[in-house]
Amino acid sequence: MFESEKCFSAENTAILVGLDFGIGTHQDSLRELEQLAISAKLKVLAVIEGKRSRPDPSTYVGSGKLNEIEQIVLKTKATAIVFNHDLSPAQQRDIAQRLKCYVVDRTSLILDIFAQRAKSHEGKLQVELAQLEHLSTRLIRGWTHLERQKGGIGLRGPGETQLETDRRLIKKRVKLLKDKLTILQRQRAVQRKSRQRKDVFTVSLVGYTNAGKSTLFNRLTRAQTYAADQLFATLDTTSRKLFLSEGKTVVISDTVGFIRELPHTLVAAFRATLEETVQADVLLHVIDASSPDRDEQVDEVNKILKEIGADTIPQILVLNKIDLLESGKSCARDEYGRISNIRISAKTGEGMELVREALSEAIAKQAETGDKKTMTFNAFGDRVFANDFFEPTE
Ligand code: GTP
Repeated sequence: MFESEKCFSAENTAILVGLDFGIGTHQDSLRELEQLAISAKLKVLAVIEGKRSRPDPSTYVGSGKLNEIEQIVLKTKATAIVFNHDLSPAQQRDIAQRLKCYVVDRTSLILDIFAQRAKSHEGKLQVELAQLEHLSTRLIRGWTHLERQKGGIGLRGPGETQLETDRRLIKKRVKLLKDKLTILQRQRAVQRKSRQRKDVFTVSLVGYTNAGKSTLFNRLTRAQTYAADQLFATLDTTSRKLFLSEGKTVVISDTVGFIRELPHTLVAAFRATLEETVQADVLLHVIDASSPDRDEQVDEVNKILKEIGADTIPQILVLNKIDLLESGKSCARDEYGRISNIRISAKTGEGMELVREALSEAIAKQAETGDKKTMTFNAFGDRVFANDFFEPTE
């Protein structure tokens, strides 16, 4: 793997670089990059900003800015530079060679966090696949080290350049990973279909990373899912039964958080994990109501839901973290009288009864309108069954 794309360890220090191209989201995005770096266990030594109308073709940041970065790298002895942008492979290589430190872009950083967090066998395979697919688009002459990492000698085929060998090795591994994932996904589908098709209502928690999904999941089901003040603490989908009043039961799933510019390779690799979301009867869209970026985060989540084919599933907006605001718990209804919007605190437990009430109502509503989802197809062309039942995956 590229030396610039290894998993970071605790002693890695970094300088963050973000350029403002005048599109208005620069500050939010840079703040988020800092959180991402911390989540990747990097110690941030400096944040360098700049303004440009467009990227410089050879150095991305421009030669003056690159000199400035070089001085700061020399002064701070940082081991990595994290760019809040996607550099071309040649730019990434040239900057790394000149500044003699790891050069990481936003996509690689997110992939790195996923690599550190993946716990289940399937999750690990999915992350490795995403990393390799990302890497395969970035292989260029003069900067590959696959052979050395794999022990080298004897791997190169006759007449192959190192680059060709690397490409071949990646292709082979990608195929192997895809085959393994296909088997796992088939097993999952078989298990699902062989389970009783009882009238189980499924709910999926979705939301921007750090919105409080796992905290709400734990609060509702009393399970100990990993909730931490880090981005992407949850990677694998966890499903649990949740008992509501009057014997009503739902299956609720906590899943990976979304973020702006979520790498496409990741969305593709996590297809199976996200399928739980695509099959839900209702989505609890958890929002960090205390975040100044919350409207933008809601838009980002909706964008990704559209991408995975889950945009037509009814949503209940859960405005979380009201303990950090002045307002108390509340719930609002839409023009059809359905609960559409709840204000709660998953941390203090305030408003939990409103979540349960909203879910009970959603079940009643579905019973009224009949099982209309049994003939639904998801974004991947697979038949979707509302009654499919998921076991806990952890
Ligand atoms: P990802 O795994 O990144 O998708 O995060 P998540 O949405 O599952 O968030 P998680 O539950 O891990 O919570 C993120 C942070 O927000 C943790 O530090 C929680 O303690 C905190 N948090 C969650 N809910 C509340 C809340 O109601 N109030 C406050 N003050 N903090 C909360």
